[in-house]
Amino acid sequence: MNLSKNLENKIRTDIVLKSLTSFKIGGRAKYYIEPATQEELKKTLIFAKNKKLKIYCIGSGSNVLASDKGISGIIIKLNSKNFKSFKFEDDTLIAQSGCLLSTLLQRSRSRGLSGLEYFIGIPGTLGGALAMNAGIKEKNIGDLVEDVTILDYNGRTKILSKDEAGFSYRNSDLDDVIVLSATLKLKKSSKAGIDRVINDLITARKRSQDWSFPCAGCAFKNPANESAGRLIDLCGLKGIRVGDAQVSLKHANFIINRGNASSSDVLKLISIIKREVKKRFKIELTEEIKIWK
Ligand code: EPU
Repeated sequence: MNLSKNLENKIRTDIVLKSLTSFKIGGRAKYYIEPATQEELKKTLIFAKNKKLKIYCIGSGSNVLASDKGISGIIIKLNSKNFKSFKFEDDTLIAQSGCLLSTLLQRSRSRGLSGLEYFIGIPGTLGGALAMNAGIKEKNIGDLVEDVTILDYNGRTKILSKDEAGFSYRNSDLDDVIVLSATLKLKKSSKAGIDRVINDLITARKRSQDWSFPCAGCAFKNPANESAGRLIDLCGLKGIRVGDAQVSLKHANFIINRGNASSSDVLKLISIIKREVKKRFKIELTEEIKIWK
C-alpha cells in the first residue's frame, strides 16, 4: 500500500498534549493524526511501522499523564464520524470506539436499556473505557461486553470474545491494539430505575470526588479489599503539593492540577505517596493513570 500524500499532509507535528488531556499536562507529540477512515488508519499504522514509532491511541485523554518533554511516537485519535457510529439491535448495542460513553448512556437510557448508567460521569470514549476497563466499585464496562473488534498494529482486524479481551480490574489486553468497536449486552429496564442509579451516583461523586480542577480521575488502583484514597488519607497526605500538583483535600486518590503542574511535579507527588503508603502499610500502590513518556 502506498502512503498517499494526503495522509502525510494530515499528520500533524504541532499538537501539544496539554490540549488533549484532562490533566492539562504534556509536551508536544512528535506526530498526531485523526484518521478519517479505517483505510487511513491502516495507512497510519504502516507509517508508524516504517518509522518505528510507538503508537499511542488516545480517547478523551482522561486517564493519561503525558510527559512535559513530549512524546516521540504517534498519537492516534479516532475522532472522525466514521469511528463514532452505533446501533441498537433489541437489547444489544454495537458501538464504535470513538463514541463518547455519555452519548451511549443517553441513547440507551432513552430506549429503556440499562447497563451504562453505572458509568455516569466517567469521562471518555468507549475505546478508552474498554482499554482500561473503566468502572465503579461494583461494575466495570467489560462486564457488558460480548465481543470487541480490534485492529492489530499490522493492520489485521480481529473479533475478540470477552475472555480474549482479558478484562480485569482497571485493565485489559487491549492496550497494544486499536479498539474499533464493541458489542455490549444491555438489559431492558424502566427509565425511572435507570434515573435512580444515575442520580445516586451523581450525588455520591459530587460528595466524595474532586472534579473542580484538571485531573485524571483516581491516580492509583485500589489494592485488594482496600481503598487507595483511604490509605493515602490515613498517611496525612491530603493537600500536599509539588509545584501545582496537589493531593486533593476532598479525595486523597485524586491528584489535581492547580494551574501549571508539570508531569514531573505529578510524578514526584506519586513517588512521595507510594513511599509513604509503603512505609506505613507495607502496601505497594500501582498507578491507574497511564504514564506516557
Ligand atoms: N476514603 C477516605 N479518604 C479519602 C478518600 C476515600 O477515607 O480521601 C474512604 C471513603 O470514606 C470510603 C473508602 O475510602 O470509605 C472508599 O472511597 P470511595 O467510596 O470514594 O471509593 P474509591 O475506592 O476511592 C472507587 C473507584 C472510583 C469510583 C468509586 C465509586 C478506584 C481506584 N476508584 O473509588 O473510580 O468512582 O469507587 O464507585 O477503583 C477511577 O477509577 O478513576 C475512579 C474515580
